[in-house]
Amino acid sequence: MKAHNVVIVGGGSIRNPELMAMLASQKEKFPIKRLVLYDIEADRQEIVGKYGEILMREYYPELETFLYTTDPAVAFEGVDFALVQIRAGKITMREKDEKIPLKHGCVGQETCGAGGFAYGLRSVPAIIELVKTIRKYSPEAWILNYSNPAAIVAEATKRVFPGDHRILNICDMPIAIMDRYGELMGCTRLDFEPRYFGLNHFGWFTHVYDKKTGVDLAPAIKEKLLSGHTFGKGNEEHVMEQSWLETYNFMARMLRDYPEYLPNTYLKYYLYPDHVVETSDPNYTRANEIMDGKEKKVYSMLNEVIKLGKIKGTPYELGSERNVHASYIVELAISILNNENNIFLIIVKNNGIIPNIDPDMMVEVACRVGSNGAEALAMEPVGTFYKGMMENQYAYEKLTVDGLFEKDKTKLLQALALNRTVVDTDTAKKILDDLIEANVDFWGSEFTTVKND
Ligand code: G6P
Ligand code: MN
Repeated sequence: MKAHNVVIVGGGSIRNPELMAMLASQKEKFPIKRLVLYDIEADRQEIVGKYGEILMREYYPELETFLYTTDPAVAFEGVDFALVQIRAGKITMREKDEKIPLKHGCVGQETCGAGGFAYGLRSVPAIIELVKTIRKYSPEAWILNYSNPAAIVAEATKRVFPGDHRILNICDMPIAIMDRYGELMGCTRLDFEPRYFGLNHFGWFTHVYDKKTGVDLAPAIKEKLLSGHTFGKGNEEHVMEQSWLETYNFMARMLRDYPEYLPNTYLKYYLYPDHVVETSDPNYTRANEIMDGKEKKVYSMLNEVIKLGKIKGTPYELGSERNVHASYIVELAISILNNENNIFLIIVKNNGIIPNIDPDMMVEVACRVGSNGAEALAMEPVGTFYKGMMENQYAYEKLTVDGLFEKDKTKLLQALALNRTVVDTDTAKKILDDLIEANVDFWGSEFTTVKND
């Protein structure tokens, strides 16, 4: 099989060690010739890059080239796959995205509500510039994009790169949820074929088919969830932390109130905002948890490995741990290059997939993915509750992008007032002003005036 050229964008991300390990473990199915890490910050990337050199030397000797760079010409020339996971503003801005809304009594979350809104206004310009640069050097590259807030990013990439079917915006949340279903059913997520609809971080599973028999296991999964099953700590990243466990356990509560479909965990923020705010600590959010936990752990591992100059024979030896974030993007690349047409949940333009929903809406639905890209499976019309939820949320997403592109503060205010986690205009105005101040290095000072047209 042809060996491919791959670039990981956001090379300095603490998620990269796992992604690189995953690529090394999948070398038979996804052979790589040249692997490049690209980041705009050399210092931040260097430590991950040095670790990567050791990892590749020991676990991927077949790789012809491994390097890390901040030079787009080096990174993007002749690329087959760009795996993108950037965080504009890094974790320090995530902390602000979470804390500013909470200060005003609203949900503080990195991708949902006012926090996701602020992140979107930073992320979109960065992604657009990045995609333009990648396209300049590699017009045909597959761009598999995890960057958040994916719903807003997808709305923007649809507008700026219409018809570019090699940009796939993806999310691992539904997949991580399917891992939990596997736990309930005594199998793995790879035994399931999901049917799902919604917007990103805002959707529902309608069916969870058994891949072999075609039987819909959703009723059995619901029954297990409702029977009081509580998820315990597993050995995967997504179930090692208390806050994630609570998130998964909350699925049962949502299902009791809304029994029709299995909910995405993120619906918690939109359907139970009061509960979320009451149980949040405005002085210690998820960003703090990550800075004190995973970030420290990963950096100390990287430093230790670099000091030792090896991984094999050390406590950091790569094992068989499965990381959902890393495995999903690699599975997707494999389905594309082998034209496997496996089912993935991708954020695509609706275009009639859901007949009673705006054709322009960027929906997250089940798609077959092969060498011609993502082909969505048609759905039945959705019920009034879901339609109403999605239309409201999509209007918020559109206005966020409109406000950004048109530099229109009134549209940004409208966006926040539409968001279910904000709603009140006076609150929206206060949050918006605080966010504008906190994001001045990213947004500039263009949002200080209000247009009235
Ligand atoms: C899930 C979501 C991602 C999100 C991540 C946050 O994987 O799909 O979009 O970025 O959770 O996880 P963290 O551990 O950083 O809070
Ligand atoms: Mn996601």
